[in-house]
Amino acid sequence: MWTPSIVSALENAETPLYFYDMVLLKKTLAEIIQTSKVYDFHVHYALKANNNTKVLQIIQEAGLGADCVSGNEIELAVEHGFKTNQIVFAGVGKTVKEILTALKHQIFCFNVESVQELEVIAQLCLENETTARIALRINPNVDAHTHHYITTGLDENKFGILTHELPLCLEIIEKNSQLQLCGLHFHIGSQITDLNVFKSLCVKVNEWNRWFINRGHEVKVLNVGGGLGIDYDQPDAVGIPDFAVFFAIFNQFLERKPDQQIHFELGRSIVGQCGSLISRVLYIKNGLKKNFAILDAGMTELLRPSLYQAYHKIETVKRHLQSESEMIYDVVGPICESSDCFGKEVRLAELNRGDLIAIRSAGAYGEVMALRYNLRAPLNFVYLE
Ligand code: LLP
Repeated sequence: MWTPSIVSALENAETPLYFYDMVLLKKTLAEIIQTSKVYDFHVHYALKANNNTKVLQIIQEAGLGADCVSGNEIELAVEHGFKTNQIVFAGVGKTVKEILTALKHQIFCFNVESVQELEVIAQLCLENETTARIALRINPNVDAHTHHYITTGLDENKFGILTHELPLCLEIIEKNSQLQLCGLHFHIGSQITDLNVFKSLCVKVNEWNRWFINRGHEVKVLNVGGGLGIDYDQPDAVGIPDFAVFFAIFNQFLERKPDQQIHFELGRSIVGQCGSLISRVLYIKNGLKKNFAILDAGMTELLRPSLYQAYHKIETVKRHLQSESEMIYDVVGPICESSDCFGKEVRLAELNRGDLIAIRSAGAYGEVMALRYNLRAPLNFVYLE
């Protein structure tokens, strides 16, 4: 990974910085396109995972659609050339302004998350003499077996429409011809590594697909969301998730009716492995019980370890040699919070002030979740093109 030319680019750059491997991103996209087209599946990129301009450009050029969760994400997707008829819009709290943005662009579909939202969209369509394509986001009560903060498909989660409300949704849709029901939407969580979870999701999708069809409603689109996990332990060995296996599961277990389109909203699995947070060691502090490596990056640049106790592989950029003397460090940031820690008891080659550290698999939910807390400086970037 850390070839001499990359290392010299990093050494000359100001840290903390996000390093993006655009070559890997392109390979990942090529793999997605090849494996999804076998089944004629449609893939939208979930902008929330990473909205860096260069990253978006490459994903747009690859021809993916966009999955947005705010009016600003819709505007950004449009600015980057994503086709409006390939944009979906999810979120439990869409504002009037955001709904109007989506209507203005005549996006492919609103993923509607509540009865009230359905009524508001219907009303705004009337006022603006327009129509809206909608998919109902159904909360299927499937456990994604992932961190509870990123589980979204259980009854106790705020997401989606509870199934007992679906008859009411149909009544509203039947009364309001400005609402065009185009499909069903599901998303049960993120960083899902137990692929059996997706089989359980398919069972629920089939159930609700039949339910709508039996009531005489055409369901053109089945959108099964995102959630495919990445291997945080082995970013080099498993740089590209197994999309072939992932898509094959949906092909095998979804009872797809003729002419039904299957859509996905993938974020992490597309961009996760192509980003690393690069930081310099500011100080080494040998405590009584621990050695601390204090970095110039903190939770403000990569929040996931503090927020979810997420594991990210930490490595030195230059020195990997086994034979070098090793030490155990708590690798921490400079922020005034004890949770500002990237890893406890991490074995690394003995560190010195100024050494470069890479925190891997930070391409998804890294840069986008950066904070200005402590009035931190804006991020820097290095791209491998
Ligand atoms: N579709 C919907 C409706 C979503 O809510 C999400 C992610 C996705 C698609 C994309 O999921 P992915 O393929 O990336 O798993 N900040 C957390 C992750 C939050 C995920 C939110 N929703 C983290 O750092 O792990």
